[in-house]
Amino acid sequence: MSRELSGRDLLSISDLGRDEIDEVLAVGLRAKSGGDLGAPLAERNLALIFQRPSNRTRVSFEVAINRLGGHPIALFGDEIRLGERESATDIARILDRYADGVIARLVSQRDLIAIAGAMRGPVISAMTDVEHPCQVLADLMTVREVTGRIAGARVVYIGDGNNVCTSWLYAAAICGVDLRVVCPPGYEPRESVLDGAARLRGNGTGFSVGHDPTAVLGDADIVYTDVWTSMGQEAEQQRRREDFGHLQVNERLLSLAPSSARVMHCLPAHRGEEITAAVLDGPSSVVFDQAENRLWAQMALLSLLFAGAPRPRTSTAAVLS
Ligand code: CP
Ligand code: NVA
Repeated sequence: MSRELSGRDLLSISDLGRDEIDEVLAVGLRAKSGGDLGAPLAERNLALIFQRPSNRTRVSFEVAINRLGGHPIALFGDEIRLGERESATDIARILDRYADGVIARLVSQRDLIAIAGAMRGPVISAMTDVEHPCQVLADLMTVREVTGRIAGARVVYIGDGNNVCTSWLYAAAICGVDLRVVCPPGYEPRESVLDGAARLRGNGTGFSVGHDPTAVLGDADIVYTDVWTSMGQEAEQQRRREDFGHLQVNERLLSLAPSSARVMHCLPAHRGEEITAAVLDGPSSVVFDQAENRLWAQMALLSLLFAGAPRPRTSTAAVLS
């Protein structure tokens, strides 16, 4: 399995098959319970590019890289000024000469693809406006811990049909999660995403997109939400508060789900908007365990992507010839 993942990019959760996702989760759970993943990143340098703010993603990746014996180099939006100071491709052509891989949180998926096209080492999405695959790997690990399964788990996603939701739709289709997306009219996932998820879907697994949470919460295992106003959408905050207001995950909405249902949120949370403090900090919430799982899932992912991969070196002779 590690040979199959070795050296590959993770730009979308759909870059992984079901067995590969299972392998990431198994290795992540093993690491979490004390298993030693060794030092597959020894002597490797990984560049992290953050065009948008981050707490969990940056710190969990830096810690994961350090624990696996590697060295992270973080670059921030205002110093690298992607597309303004230098193109995504030129940035990647340079990083390729120094670093063994790139982890990038970018606005544009197109820029992420351009970086992957110019790097020989693996490129991993740390979120774009289109997807957040590493978040959903940690989410799936959490679902497995909480419910004991992934295939057939009933997950109700309440919120905007954007990046996190998109990775969830693809992951659900690949892994057989019974995913029910609830969003306000006008905030549904794009048609192309729904078509893509339908293509990934195996026989017997399904997902739905609707507007009424009461219709889908009755047998939910997981109630999942994300912010109403994502990074870069700040100018729309007031309108979004009005459009999403009826979908707040509060104690009344949670009472529509079984008492065994667990609440997840990718964080950061806007308490009092998409979720109340009472729910986020309450007994049903697993959000901080979910956040911790970013570390374990990414340690697993990195160890599998770099297992056995030769470290790309560009000798001066090769550059000059
Ligand atoms: N969930 C998540 O990606 O958090 P950060 O934005 O803090 O990295
Ligand atoms: N949808 C959110 C996710 C944050 C982790 C955003 O894009 O800001």
